[in-house]
Amino acid sequence: MKIVRTIAELQAELAATRRDNKTIGFVPTMGNLHQGHLSLIDKAKEHAACVVVSIFVNPTQFGPNEDFDAYPRTFEQDCDKLNAQGADIVFAPTVDDVYPDYQNTPARPNLTTVHVAELSQDHCGGSRPTHFDGVTTVVCKLFNMVRPDIAVFGQKDFQQLAIIKRMVKDLNIPIDIVGAPIVREPNGVAMSSRNGYLTEAELEQAAGLQQTLQWAKSQLENHLLNFDQVEQSAIQRLEEQGLRVDYFNIANAETLQVAEKNDTDIVILAAVFLGKVRLIDNMTLSLS
Ligand code: PAJ
Repeated sequence: MKIVRTIAELQAELAATRRDNKTIGFVPTMGNLHQGHLSLIDKAKEHAACVVVSIFVNPTQFGPNEDFDAYPRTFEQDCDKLNAQGADIVFAPTVDDVYPDYQNTPARPNLTTVHVAELSQDHCGGSRPTHFDGVTTVVCKLFNMVRPDIAVFGQKDFQQLAIIKRMVKDLNIPIDIVGAPIVREPNGVAMSSRNGYLTEAELEQAAGLQQTLQWAKSQLENHLLNFDQVEQSAIQRLEEQGLRVDYFNIANAETLQVAEKNDTDIVILAAVFLGKVRLIDNMTLSLS
């Protein structure tokens, strides 16, 4: 496994890969890797001969009061895990390499922003207004650096995956976007780098989010309650368990707009705060 630190080194490495006619699979991450990230590498290996993983904590997708500085950085351990998982290239650029103007204008290091309207408006976009523009812009930049054939994103970040799919469609970016299922802790909590902020007791408490999503899903599948009733009861259940609800929304899985009566492909999207830690999860279902 090669570790490259600059865009120039990456491109030299990938030129050799392309000369060998190898397909390139790409897994963008912010590091602090867990089994959820590692499952994306397996998925990428199913589709491509050479797997590139980026580790870059992207400043522009964090809000002013979010955890950019505190975000866990565990580069050595991450590289060991990636090596064991069979990644071919780790690309870990500096902020200055990705955003040459960052030191001068940290709040606006790019004059160009990729914005995916509508899909990025609600849910996480409602609570984190600048987040998805930061994500789409950096992913677009990373796509142009790596120029992969395929790229893998987790369904854990359902809205992010939908936005990236729409971005490549709208901008004719010639990359196939592959989604990968959510990997969970034994107690059902979706794995996340931010779970590391939780105590053991809080990790148990966090299981209430997945359980409530599961409950909501079964209510809908069995037509026991309507969308509004499920949302209201789910919010109450979460609050009773000490999980402060940021949002709990039943949406059309394609448009991410509020689900309408006859919609069949549904996603339930939720975010809660446990202390200061914000956790997200989701569940899809089809209604007949
Ligand atoms: P990060 O949070 O590090 O996640 C990297 C990828 O891992 C994303 O595609 C995410 O959906 C996936 N992932 C995280 N936890 C997962 C889980 N439990 N099961 C399955 N997949 C999981 O998402 C980002 O970084 C950034 O926004 C990024 C796309 C790298 C742009 O900066």
